Amino acid sequence: MELTAKDLKYFEHRQDKAREFVGRFPGGIDFTGKRVLDIGCGHGALTFHAAGAGAKEVVGLDVSAKLISMANELLDDRFADIRPRVSFRHSTIEELNEEPFDIILSQATFEHIDDPASCLAAVNKSLAAGGRFYLGFGPLYNAPFGDHRRLNLPAQKYFPWAHVGGTHAQKIASYNRRHPGEDISSLNDLGLNGLDYADYERMIAACGLKKISYCVNTAAHPLVPVLNALRALPFLREYLSINIYTVLEK
Ligand SMILES: C[S@@+](CC[C@H](N)C(=O)[O-])C[C@H]1O[C@@H](n2cnc3c(N)ncnc32)[C@H](O)[C@@H]1O
Repeated sequence: MELTAKDLKYFEHRQDKAREFVGRFPGGIDFTGKRVLDIGCGHGALTFHAAGAGAKEVVGLDVSAKLISMANELLDDRFADIRPRVSFRHSTIEELNEEPFDIILSQATFEHIDDPASCLAAVNKSLAAGGRFYLGFGPLYNAPFGDHRRLNLPAQKYFPWAHVGGTHAQKIASYNRRHPGEDISSLNDLGLNGLDYADYERMIAACGLKKISYCVNTAAHPLVPVLNALRALPFLREYLSINIYTVLEK
């Protein structure tokens, strides 16, 4: 597969996002000499970053065969120096059968995973004792543009929460009416799990890993303090919880 100029531009954008991801955890992430797994690696930007930052070995995994093929192509074309320490797998973590990892990463993926609770259980199994899971994701479904604009709702131009009202079934029916021929049957068909902030909060608390840090609305935006003040009001919490950044330890 030939990578297009558009693919390469997107990959370079994700490289910036990978650096930002690492910087969003208190104290960053020390990859030196570690065995690392990147769940939902996409084109591999964070996988390459971890290897470049001194990891002993990094495995990137993704359910998209197309993205894994692109990541392998980038590895061959652009990362000859780290080539022996990086590999990609077309797999979910539940299917992966590997030695335990010191560090597991997951960037911008948990809101796309069909069953994050099962993924968390697999993370628990795949971490070495004392190993850490660095998890950061969003926008969450009930946040502004939490459907990642995939429902393609005209009203969202004026109201970023336009996707939130109504049941999921109503939203799927409306989507199918506006996109003849696509015939999706759930939000999962659009690559979204549609889970609430409260669902993630519960799953993370129940996963059996120790919470080292937990932060909602991590961003360098000047409005974050205002958002967080309003988020303290229970009825606004779902709608103003945009992302979760947490470090969990086995
Ligand atoms: C928005 S992309 C993020 C890619 C990359 N982490 C980044 O930040 O550039 C989400 C990725 O999650 C992958 N994904 C969704 N469900 C998954 C699962 N159960 N296991 C592994 N990857 C999954 C998708 O194929 C997609 O590549």
